[in-house]
Amino acid sequence: MSRIVYVNGRFVPEPEARVSVFDRGFLFADGVYEVSSVLDRGLVDNAAHLARLERSLGELGMASPASPEEIVRAQKELIARNDLDEGVVYLQITRGPADRDFAYPAEPEPTLVMFTQEKPLVDNPLAAHGIAVVTVPDLRWKRRDVKTVGLLAASMAKQAALDAGAGDAWMVEDGFVTEGSSNNAYIVTGGGVVVTRHLGNEILHGITRAAVLRLSREHRIAVEERAFTVEEAKSATEALITSASSFVIPVVRIDGETIGDGRPGAITRRLREIYIESARASVDR
Ligand code: PDD
Repeated sequence: MSRIVYVNGRFVPEPEARVSVFDRGFLFADGVYEVSSVLDRGLVDNAAHLARLERSLGELGMASPASPEEIVRAQKELIARNDLDEGVVYLQITRGPADRDFAYPAEPEPTLVMFTQEKPLVDNPLAAHGIAVVTVPDLRWKRRDVKTVGLLAASMAKQAALDAGAGDAWMVEDGFVTEGSSNNAYIVTGGGVVVTRHLGNEILHGITRAAVLRLSREHRIAVEERAFTVEEAKSATEALITSASSFVIPVVRIDGETIGDGRPGAITRRLREIYIESARASVDR
């Protein structure tokens, strides 16, 4: 069954969903995006995703062709039209088509596209056994807090991980882990403290990260927001990643070294459980 895709205000069958070859998203990666998860046919933490979208747009001096209310309406219609029970809604805004010029067009006509992807989020097979990660240098630009579609370095990192037989890459800068190729990275210390990198321009401010840290504090699980080295990660008791498309996934090996006893840790499993419980309770249909 072909999907129905949203393109600039219209819902069209997938083969008819097209944008111009002159679109600045295509020519300059001049665009931003969001991925909102869908559970039980409802959007998870979508207001936070749209707030981050507004911020990304603002940082790039880009205008949205639709209000947040119009975007939510279109996201919900897309979920209904594609009969999506569990998965994600992808949304991208670019500065739109213009003759190729590094300078921004004087009168941009931004492009807005959205599509759904079906994906088992709760019964994700990776949750049971965890994934291995390899570390790679962080080759990305210096504004990783802006969620742009300039994802080539992240894509290279992910492919290098798969080629090495791992599930994902942790990117490293000056000896410290920044984040995963498309997720935030955490360790749990011997003392049971959940550690993840502090916010700044070096990482994306994950929406799942914010929820997991809030839930940790509510459940009296100690949290520290600070940078950690690859060496500290390798000697941690647990490791994990979070993102809208994976929720909480255990990491059981880093560069071939086993973390803890090589199985998903107790705190990680607990975080996944309370995250899913909270997401389920608050979906927006
Ligand atoms: N990626 N860090 C990076 C570099 C990311 O690309 C993502 C999300 C995250 C986690 O953010 P959130 O919890 O808001 O999903 C962290 C999405 C899922 C993607 O590119 O598909």
